[in-house]
Amino acid sequence: MTARRRILVTGGSGGIGHFVLQELRDRYEAIVFDQREPAGPASRFIAGDILNLPAFTDACRGMDALIHLAAIPNPFSDPPERIFPVNVTGTFHALEAALRGGIPRVILAGSDSATGLAIKKVPLVPAYLPVDEEHPKTPSEVYGLTKLLVEQIGKTYARGYGLEVVILCPVFVVLPGKEGQIAERAAERISRNLWAYVEPPDVAQAFRLALELPAVSYEAFLIGASDTLSPVPSLKLIEEAFGRLPPIRRPEWFEHNPNASLYDISKAMRVLGYRPTSSWRKFSRREIP
Ligand SMILES: NC(=O)c1ccc[n+]([C@@H]2O[C@H](COP(=O)([O-])OP(=O)(O)OC[C@H]3O[C@@H](n4cnc5c(N)ncnc54)[C@H](O)[C@@H]3O)[C@@H](O)[C@H]2O)c1
Repeated sequence: MTARRRILVTGGSGGIGHFVLQELRDRYEAIVFDQREPAGPASRFIAGDILNLPAFTDACRGMDALIHLAAIPNPFSDPPERIFPVNVTGTFHALEAALRGGIPRVILAGSDSATGLAIKKVPLVPAYLPVDEEHPKTPSEVYGLTKLLVEQIGKTYARGYGLEVVILCPVFVVLPGKEGQIAERAAERISRNLWAYVEPPDVAQAFRLALELPAVSYEAFLIGASDTLSPVPSLKLIEEAFGRLPPIRRPEWFEHNPNASLYDISKAMRVLGYRPTSSWRKFSRREIP
């Protein structure tokens, strides 16, 4: 029997990490590197801080891949002077520790927030629809900025140092306890994130698929549900919010499903084999009276 691949998962004790550990359980040996103990099924736990490069590098030795989830996942819970170093220096350390520790592949957590279309201070009309990985990225707050820099750091290490870097950019993840936000967000006339959502098992599926992707240099993927979290047709939502429609680059995306996500997840489906199963309807039955 061949040994199972060893995957270091930073942030494995967090919301998404919990589901990633469950997804990896039967196929990989998952070793968590986090400041707090994981509740999910890990083979081993290493208590550590991603801002400590020597400790992070030691944890990387002997691993086959690194999934880097440790971060501050929003602009609300912490001040910018904490978000910036944890997310940016933390990502620089992830790539540098992988390189020094001999890990060939790093999978990073980006976010739709890098576009500036989510968690925005300035309401932006998308340049075109559906929004794909190449859409202009113009964040207007610090969390989105850190996620844009995560992409730049990943690209640099792929280009210049030969690391294989995959960056997965989930939209709003409906973690346990957040189900009530579905109805709240569906009612927004100008959505905080283009009415996008994804359930955590789909995000976990994408992280596993990124481990299984054949040789890669740098690839980014948007990860979301196949629809929006609103029953209103997607292009109508945009027209009502902004008074006009931006250019529609892939009309067939909305012809096929009028409620299709305003984010284009077809690259993840085509290249990774991602098959989203998320559906807001089961939450609305439970949460909306
Ligand atoms: N939750 C979402 O909706 C969402 C959407 C898009 C992207 N993301 C990204 O996914 C990743 C995971 O998000 P999450 O929602 O699971 O966050 P979370 O806050 O639930 O988990 C983050 C984990 O990182 C750990 N951590 C934080 N700072 C650390 C440090 N200095 N050293 C070691 N560990 C540290 C925490 O202890 C925690 O276990 C983040 O990069 C986030 O930006 C999340």
